[in-house]
Amino acid sequence: MEPCTPTGQYYSSSSLSVCILAVLEWDVPVDDDSQIMSLIQDVFLPINPRFASILVTGKSGEKNLKKVAVKLEDHIKVPVFEEGLSVECYDEYFQEYLSEIAMERLNKSRPLWEIHIFKYPTSNGAATTVFKLHHALGDGYSLMGALFSCLQRADNPSLSLTFPSIRSNNYMNKKKSVLELLSVFKNTVTDFTWSLFKSNVLEDHVSPIRSGKEGVKFSPVSISTVTFSLDQTVNDVIVGIIFYGIRLYMEGTNQGSGNARSTALVLLNTREATVYQSLEEMEKPETKGPWGENFGYIHVSIPEATNIDTSDPLEFVFEAKRMITKKKNSLVVYLTGTLIELMRKLREISKHIRGVIWKTSLAISNLIGPVEKMSLAKYSLKGLYFMVVNIPQSLMVMIASYMGKLRITIGSEKELINQKLFNTCMENAFERIYKASTKTIST
Ligand SMILES: *[C@@H]1O[C@H](CO)[C@@H](O)[C@H](O)[C@H]1NC(C)=O
Repeated sequence: MEPCTPTGQYYSSSSLSVCILAVLEWDVPVDDDSQIMSLIQDVFLPINPRFASILVTGKSGEKNLKKVAVKLEDHIKVPVFEEGLSVECYDEYFQEYLSEIAMERLNKSRPLWEIHIFKYPTSNGAATTVFKLHHALGDGYSLMGALFSCLQRADNPSLSLTFPSIRSNNYMNKKKSVLELLSVFKNTVTDFTWSLFKSNVLEDHVSPIRSGKEGVKFSPVSISTVTFSLDQTVNDVIVGIIFYGIRLYMEGTNQGSGNARSTALVLLNTREATVYQSLEEMEKPETKGPWGENFGYIHVSIPEATNIDTSDPLEFVFEAKRMITKKKNSLVVYLTGTLIELMRKLREISKHIRGVIWKTSLAISNLIGPVEKMSLAKYSLKGLYFMVVNIPQSLMVMIASYMGKLRITIGSEKELINQKLFNTCMENAFERIYKASTKTIST
């Protein structure tokens, strides 16, 4: 028996039981069943003993991992549909299937993962594989690192994958003047106070993007993606675009609702490394927090949408960017991380995190994928995205980059949010902001 990770402890309780779906789209059909089985057996399972363990609750309520024998056939699902249908048809089947997977609960008597192989061609690939991984297995960063470690560079397997350079967010490493430090201190105090207030007291308004229903984590979710080109956008600007798209949607659905109090929980990894560490490195005890211990978040208010149709979209993005920059210039993310650690010791963590998520309108998280094409044996990877499901929120936005493309994945409560309209609003937001910015540059 091995004690479960902190993430495992707080993502697997009755108040919060969260799964990650990682969707991999392939260039070629996935047809060789025996090869696939051996890849899962020889490449996926050995990644971590956790993939062959179940969670058992100890005497004092703590969770431990217990090794069990894995029966692959219990974990690999291959749905069957009618043959020879159109790509559009399979697109729809896939979406429905993904939505079903999102709703199903994993069997707790087995290791907490499933692999679904959708063998039919969709507009995004010749075949699609969905990894459903319980968050108890690790945080998003370590799980994605694990998945990437199974894949190789398609052009030359002996070269290592490279990731787009990201500015280091380790704010404390830079030298600062006294004045700057004072400002960091002031920001930290105000942000942390507000974050505490927001986490414990202040709930967002019910709006076209927040149903505010207690049972929302069990409501059907639809999952869809919108793709942008990475070189047209800059990191923080993306969040601004998403906010703008959300307000366009809210105003489009219910005029005036664009001024509802809506807060996004931006999830951050406080790990110092900006690229994926190798698995061996992650497992080293001196690498603080392998498999999910460096987790923090910031609360960002979505700017209100006053005259959103006539006002300058760039103003909106700048406002969002200003807010995020200010939060980043404070240590609030480290403090919320510390608070989580403290709550964990008090065994109140699941309830606390559930409350934090529940009181906001959406969560945003991102995943940086490699610049080069990846492959697994003869299968080259066309695209990838991920989604977190069973969280107490009506809307979840995940950003994933791969091969210079940015994929925004939207998970939305089916009964509440009109997913087609929502995606159109996202595309419009991108279009308008892109146009406005090129106009500004050229004049
Ligand atoms: C859950 O898994 C166990 C062990 O494989 C099995 O005996 C049981 O029937 C499963 N339960 C359901 C509801 O599928």
